[in-house]
Amino acid sequence: MYPSSHSLTSLTDRSGLLLGADYNPEQWPADTWPEDIRLMQEAGINLVTVGVFSWALLEPREGARNFDWLDRILDLLHQGGIRVCLATPTASPPAWLGHEYPETLPVDTEGRTLWYGARNQFNPSSAKYRNAAGAITESLARRYAGHPAVAMWHVGNELGQVSYDDETALAFRAWLTRRYATLEGLNSAWGTSFWSQNYGSWDEVLPPRKAPYLINPSQTLDFQRFTSDQLLSLYCAERDIIRRYDTATPVTTNLMGFFRGADYFAFAREMDVVANDWYTDPADPDSHRSGSLTHDLCRGLSGGSPWLLIESATSGVNWREHNVPKQPGELRVDALSAVARGADGVCFFQFRQSRFGAERFHSAVVPLAGEHTRVFREVADLGRDLQALRHLAGTPCTAKIAVLFDWNSWWAAESPDTPTNRLQVLDQLQAYYAPLHRSGLAVEVVHPSADLGRFELVLAPSLFLLAQEHADALDAYVRGGGHLVVGPFSAVADSNGHLACRRFPGVLADLLGVDGEEWVPLGSPVEVRMGEAPAGHARIWAEDLALNTGTAEAVAHFGEGRLEGRPAVVRNQTGAGHSWYVGADLAPEALEQVLADALESAGIPYPLAAPLPDAVEAASRGGHLFLLNHSCAPQEVLLGWASVDLLTGATHGAQLTLPPFGALVLKEPGLKEPVPKEPVPKELPPTEHSNLQNDRNRGTA
Ligand code: GLA
Repeated sequence: MYPSSHSLTSLTDRSGLLLGADYNPEQWPADTWPEDIRLMQEAGINLVTVGVFSWALLEPREGARNFDWLDRILDLLHQGGIRVCLATPTASPPAWLGHEYPETLPVDTEGRTLWYGARNQFNPSSAKYRNAAGAITESLARRYAGHPAVAMWHVGNELGQVSYDDETALAFRAWLTRRYATLEGLNSAWGTSFWSQNYGSWDEVLPPRKAPYLINPSQTLDFQRFTSDQLLSLYCAERDIIRRYDTATPVTTNLMGFFRGADYFAFAREMDVVANDWYTDPADPDSHRSGSLTHDLCRGLSGGSPWLLIESATSGVNWREHNVPKQPGELRVDALSAVARGADGVCFFQFRQSRFGAERFHSAVVPLAGEHTRVFREVADLGRDLQALRHLAGTPCTAKIAVLFDWNSWWAAESPDTPTNRLQVLDQLQAYYAPLHRSGLAVEVVHPSADLGRFELVLAPSLFLLAQEHADALDAYVRGGGHLVVGPFSAVADSNGHLACRRFPGVLADLLGVDGEEWVPLGSPVEVRMGEAPAGHARIWAEDLALNTGTAEAVAHFGEGRLEGRPAVVRNQTGAGHSWYVGADLAPEALEQVLADALESAGIPYPLAAPLPDAVEAASRGGHLFLLNHSCAPQEVLLGWASVDLLTGATHGAQLTLPPFGALVLKEPGLKEPVPKEPVPKELPPTEHSNLQNDRNRGTA
């Protein structure tokens, strides 16, 4: 067990909620640094991530070291009361490494090398890369462990690389040998009797490189698992080096929410602090809902503990096709959304907008136009808001509803050989999440192996791959009085990706009371009925289902076509609990009705007197309800109770109007006065020197 200082509390105990930024002083002359620190203090920034992309500066030639600049900046930051999340620079190897050792560079499925000149050009399986990354990490850890500015360590950046080269093939074979022990085991797991793929020697086994036709889905699945494990082992290797020198300071890396390239449940188990990058798309009116879902994943990853929004943008980014800036007030509601969902801090990429390089046009805390700008003022205002909310640091968000998610299942579900590529896992997740979000109901995204006993309702929108042990856990959960809703095309495959030779949904069929015979991707929309009432159309997917037990009933059926009269949604009772199986991509209103039925049956009340307008988010944390308007129009909310806003002290009635991008943090009824912590001095005094210490896949996998 690591000491308890290995968590965000070691930072928030002193600073309250964190406000931070990526700080890249190496892009600027040293005489701007004191000015930077003054601006950080003015904005209320109390944490900066330093050194993420500084490898070439730290190690200009193989084995050389240049720490003078980092010594100076860390000391300056410390004197200024700004704490540092010190990064290992290993996401962006120097040109000399790729030049001298081309085997460190990643190779794509067609055998093409990805060169330096951008970033992320490393092969996770390259021994040379690993040694070089380990060496610079060790130098940093040795030198800066115990530095009073260093409050957290940050390994690499958005770990997500993948390579298909020969050294990777060797590592993949070793991984497969550990998993299957023998070639017979591998041949059986990959079903190589199909298409004459049988392997007679380990040397023949390859990563799924470009091939003439569809690649073996079990091979692809295992390669995804292997790549995820390789990335995690990079994280662990650097973390362990840091630990040799610094046993107390938390270590993290920046995750990317629902990033397909790595299993973040496995990552989270190794991270002291779950830290995530989330970039709202200001052009997408639903982006705030995707943000909420991602934040609820972060809370699930951290087992309910506070997490950190370690990167976000103050305004526009530079990597979408068309980069709409945030509107006035938008950065504040975006930041508060994360706090409302369990973040104990909000950080921006980056502190000062770059003049050169590939992110010149990315927004920052300090824009090119300087401090007298809307964006800088809004960050400083946010700093004041976070101080007003500082006593919420460390407080929990309690959810009675779990949404199950599993990277293994995601990898397996979106194989190109399935009956449709239109039933996307994340789309399903969002469809089930949206009605709950509109009602202000709290949700936590958890792995199927989580302790389900603490939830009243469990949703499994898409679990294509389901291991027997997880099916057993769901069975026990329902029998014990739980409520479970399972989405279409679930429990289809085992952990090798092999299909169940039985009626579906395979290992869940008995629990759900369903006998499925045929999957029916739709050529045209099919009407669904609930009772006699029309309930919209299934558009992509239907299943030919029958009831397999006397306790099961069809709560919706298909209203036309060859499936007319057949169940579309089956409700069953098993033991003390209830389940629903949804055998179609229901229209939003129909899905909402199914979920309403499940909520009622589970005894989960709606927290608000009426559903929220689309642009409004409500989330409860530490006895306070955050009401956030994510649009540039005023929005009416029917709350049902009057309260006081923590940010302004103003009283609000049971029905209220949120101004454009307005935010309220309302004391919930029955809340006792919070005991405020000691107020934070405006500038934090330096501490004693002690040894106490988520669409976007840019250039990664
Ligand atoms: C990611 C990276 C940062 C930067 C930002 C830009 O989150 O980690 O280095 O590239 O994106 O949005």
